[in-house]
Amino acid sequence: MVKHKNSVFTDNRLAPESLAFRLAGAADAVTRVAKGQSLPDALTAVFSDVSADAAARGAIQDIAYHTLRQLGLVSFLTRKLTTRPPEPVMLQSLLHCALALLIPENNTLRYEPYTTVDQAVEAAAAIRVLRKAKGLVNAVLRRFLREQPNFLKAARQDSEASWNYPGWWIEQAQQAYPVHWKTILSAGNGVPPLTLRVNVRKTTVNDYLELAEAAGIGCMAIGPYAVKLIQPIPVNRIPGFMEGLVSVQDAAAQLAAPLLGLEDGMKVLDACAAPGGKAGHMLEMAHIDLLALDRDRRRLRMIQENLERLGLRADIKTGDATRSDWWDKSLFDCILADVPCTASGIIRRHPDIRWLRRQSDSHELSLVSARILKNLWPMLKPGGKLLLATCSIWPEESERQAEAFAAYSGALRLPAPGQLLPTVNGMNDHDGLFYALFKKT
Ligand SMILES: C[S@@+](CC[C@H](N)C(=O)[O-])C[C@H]1O[C@@H](n2cnc3c(N)ncnc32)[C@H](O)[C@@H]1O
Repeated sequence: MVKHKNSVFTDNRLAPESLAFRLAGAADAVTRVAKGQSLPDALTAVFSDVSADAAARGAIQDIAYHTLRQLGLVSFLTRKLTTRPPEPVMLQSLLHCALALLIPENNTLRYEPYTTVDQAVEAAAAIRVLRKAKGLVNAVLRRFLREQPNFLKAARQDSEASWNYPGWWIEQAQQAYPVHWKTILSAGNGVPPLTLRVNVRKTTVNDYLELAEAAGIGCMAIGPYAVKLIQPIPVNRIPGFMEGLVSVQDAAAQLAAPLLGLEDGMKVLDACAAPGGKAGHMLEMAHIDLLALDRDRRRLRMIQENLERLGLRADIKTGDATRSDWWDKSLFDCILADVPCTASGIIRRHPDIRWLRRQSDSHELSLVSARILKNLWPMLKPGGKLLLATCSIWPEESERQAEAFAAYSGALRLPAPGQLLPTVNGMNDHDGLFYALFKKT
């Protein structure tokens, strides 16, 4: 292992193949999330601080995701097992990661319990700020193992611990979905499938299924363009991925492009385009003249990379969709407004989101998206279509926004799926997205 200057480790004594090394890396990532960083950014930072091979990186990522999926439960247990909040945050995170590995999932454990305890103590010894906490880590984890049934029974009485969501999120789901809230929360706790979008310019769903089967990869068609892999695999092992035969995209996100009724020659705006998932799909469906706009320059590079892999092109611009300084005054036939939102509908893919969000975020983001819609509407041709999309399940960002927009002069609401709730059911497996379609009369 090569240690860089920002590394959490005191020395180089942990081998990357040890569980201790992986627990320490995961605890570092979970600490960064506790301090407000997103999990993907936290993992990138961790991997830039220590050198770890692909297997160690995969394991660190796996433990960090697994821990955040159970954060309500492991936080509850940590509170019950300690007399005062563990400090520094790294200590709390190491306990969270170790406890997450000690709790059986479907009656199985990833590691032998005493291996986890022993390796968590080793990790504490090797982490610069935790050397003195070795004894505490050992005592807390061993006590959990001794009294596990009692602690888990108490956790089942606590709503945050049993649902693994912040209390406000659970209450908001109950209010918005009095009938379906439990199914929605459960769906958000699952491990997401790897779903592909087949590029109809290059192949068909049936031909792609055959190609994947021939490569020994089990998959099934779950939509007109969607293929779900039975077992997720790394992107570089997906047949035809580098050649642009397929892209990774959830089945619900694949509904956007077909809703717009695109035809060759149309001038189309994708106003919040990065990383370019829906932009790629629109370009696959018709020979359109696409302006892909996004405020975030760093994310715009991802559009470029995605389109290059697919062999497609668009005019990619940095710009703020609440302003018009990037607009050349020629009207669009279609506009996709995939507005910024809390991402509350895609949390099975991003288990950190529920812990990073504040309850007030929905309202603040809905104000931004209202400004975006107001700004874009004059840019649409009469007879043109505007699709409002969000990846949120909160009505304030979605249905309320669409209702307010329907009051715009000349905005005719057309049939569209509306709120899709996250669903995990074999062939019907998708995130929670929202679509409202408008025609300018
Ligand atoms: C839900 S993501 C879009 C996903 C994308 N349509 C896709 O399918 O891959 C929302 C995007 O809106 C961008 N965004 C946020 N506020 C914006 C604004 N005022 N103007 C333009 N883009 C904005 C964010 O940078 C982010 O990339």
